Amino acid sequence: MKTYLTGIKATGSQHLGNMVGAIRPAIEFSQNESGRFLYFIADYHSLTTVKKAKDFSEYVYEVAATWLALGLDPEKAILYKQSDIPEIFELTWILACNTPKGDLNRAHAYKAIVQDNEEAGRDPDKSVNAGLFNYPVLMAADILLFDTNIVPVGKDQVQHVEMARSMAQRINQLYGDTLVEPQEALSVSGQYIPGLDGQKMSKSYDNTIPLWVPEKRLKKLINKIATDSTGPDEPKSTEGSAIFDIYKCFSTKEEQDAFAKQFAEGISWGEAKAALFEKVNAELAGPREEYERLMNNRSEIDAVLETGAKKARAIAQETMKRVRKNLTNF
Ligand code: ADP
Ligand code: TRP
Repeated sequence: MKTYLTGIKATGSQHLGNMVGAIRPAIEFSQNESGRFLYFIADYHSLTTVKKAKDFSEYVYEVAATWLALGLDPEKAILYKQSDIPEIFELTWILACNTPKGDLNRAHAYKAIVQDNEEAGRDPDKSVNAGLFNYPVLMAADILLFDTNIVPVGKDQVQHVEMARSMAQRINQLYGDTLVEPQEALSVSGQYIPGLDGQKMSKSYDNTIPLWVPEKRLKKLINKIATDSTGPDEPKSTEGSAIFDIYKCFSTKEEQDAFAKQFAEGISWGEAKAALFEKVNAELAGPREEYERLMNNRSEIDAVLETGAKKARAIAQETMKRVRKNLTNF
C-alpha cells in the first residue's frame, strides 16, 4: 500500500496554479488509487512570512476550505494541519542534526534571496530568518514522518522532495533502515500554469487568478491575460499562449484539438478568452458555492481538522517510536 502526502502553505488566496499543480492531482490520487492519503495545511511553514495572527488563522481556513471544496473526501484522505502534529517538529530537529548545513545553502529559495541581496550590494542574509533557511528540513519531516512514497507537487517543489529523499537515505545509512525514501509526482504536464503576464502563476508575482473570486471578477481577470498582437481573424500560435496553456488544464484532449484548430483558423483573442472563461468557470462554479458555505461554517472545518489530526498523530507516533529506537535507543 502506497502513502501519498502533500501540503499547501497557508500564505494567501489559492490560485489556479495551486489547484492544477498540487491540489487537483492529489485529490485525483485519492479517488483513483488505493493507498493511504495524507493532505495537510503547512501552516507553520507560512510563519516564515506571515506575521499577523489574524491573517494566519484566516489563511489556514482558506486552505482547508479549498481542499474540501475541490473535492477532498475526509473519509478517503486525512486532512490536518501541520501545527497539530508535534512529532513533525521533533523529527525536524533530528533531521537537522543529520543534515549538512551546505545542503541547505544550496536550496533554491534561499539561494535566490542571497543572490538578490548580493546583486543589490546588501548583506547576503538580509531578510532571511532561520525558519526560511531551515524550511526544507521542516518539509522533509512533514514527508518522512508518514512513511510517504509519493508526493504530488508542482515543479518548484521537486528539489525539496529530493532533499527529503537524501535525508532519509542518510539516516538509513547511519542508523539502519528507519525512514521511507519518497518520490515526487509531477502533475500531468509537469509545467507551470502561466499567470496573467505569461510567467509562472505565483502569489509572489502578483499575477494570479485566485480560485474563489466571484464569476464576474474571474471573467475580468481572464480578460487581462497577456496576448500577442495578432489581430482578429489572423491565425494564432498555441505555442507560448497563456490562454491555450490554461485551457489545456481544464479540457479533454478532443476539446484541446478543437481549440487549437480555432487558433489556426484565426479565433480572436476576445473569443478565445471567452471560451477559456466558460471552461474554468464550469469547473469552479460548484466548488465556489461549497467554499463559501464552508467559510461560513468554520466549525465544520474545525471538526474535519480535529479528526484528521487524531488519525495523523497515530501514524506519526508509530514512526517516532521507530526513529527514537534506532537513533537514541529510547
Ligand atoms: P505560490 O508560488 O503561489 O506561492 P506555493 O508555493 O504556495 O505557490 O505552491 C503550492 C503548490 O502549488 C506547490 O506544489 C506548487 O508547486 C504548486 N504551484 C504553485 N504555482 C503553480 C503553477 N503556476 N503551476 C503549477 N503548480 C503550481
Ligand atoms: N513547500 C511547499 C510549498 O511551498 C508546501 C509544503 C510543506 C509541502 N510541506 C510539504 C509540500 C510536504 C509537499 C510535502 O508549496
